[in-house]
Amino acid sequence: MAGVSEAASEELSNWRPLDSSASEFTSAARWAFAHILSSQWPRNGLAEQRMRGLTLIKPVQETRLPMAFVLLQEGSSSPAAVIGGAVLRDLRTYVSAREFARLQACERACLALSVVVEQNWQGLGHGRAVVSHLEASARERGCTIMYLFSDNTVEFWSKMGYTLLPGEPSRNGKPWMRKQL
Ligand SMILES: CC(C)(COP(=O)(O)OP(=O)(O)OC[C@H]1O[C@@H](n2cnc3c(N)ncnc32)[C@H](O)[C@@H]1OP(=O)(O)O)[C@@H](O)C(=O)NCCC(=O)NCCS
Repeated sequence: MAGVSEAASEELSNWRPLDSSASEFTSAARWAFAHILSSQWPRNGLAEQRMRGLTLIKPVQETRLPMAFVLLQEGSSSPAAVIGGAVLRDLRTYVSAREFARLQACERACLALSVVVEQNWQGLGHGRAVVSHLEASARERGCTIMYLFSDNTVEFWSKMGYTLLPGEPSRNGKPWMRKQL
């Protein structure tokens, strides 16, 4: 299946991705990402809790996952320049063995989490850019299929080429979607 509109994200020249493996991925950048996450999902934890989760993102050598990244406004290294970001995890280590089987997943399946664009930057193509970098990062790590559970954004994910899983499995009421990479 074709990747998410690489052409469209290339047109946006005002951002660059900053991966958690980079020394520039400082705690200030993580704090900025944590604040965006807690403003979009206030019920799922304060920025402090989000920050703790992001600090724990240390890749396992074999899978090189989990990883996180933020989109930074080009030309700025200020944490205020964080536009959005996402977290990429290994599916098998995130879900139970039962859920893994129910999802009919394979060893090379990964999971997109915390995909977000800061509110003032939404609607400008940055969500597409986040997904594009997320998928490229997954491919680089040998993943062949991306899973996610959608938070009221099925239509957005459908536009990115994701499909709902047959049989309507959900996680806490959020439907599972996936895409071959
Ligand atoms: C979902 C989200 C990441 C989209 O980011 P964005 O920067 O606004 O998205 P883009 O501008 O790149 O939009 C890409 C396309 O998706 C569409 N789209 C964006 N958000 C949408 C939504 N909530 N529902 C339906 N379509 C949507 C856009 O209209 C655009 O379509 P087009 O290419 O036909 O013009 C952003 O709204 C967000 O952070 N929401 C809160 C957190 C969230 O729900 N994340 C998803 C977790 S499952």
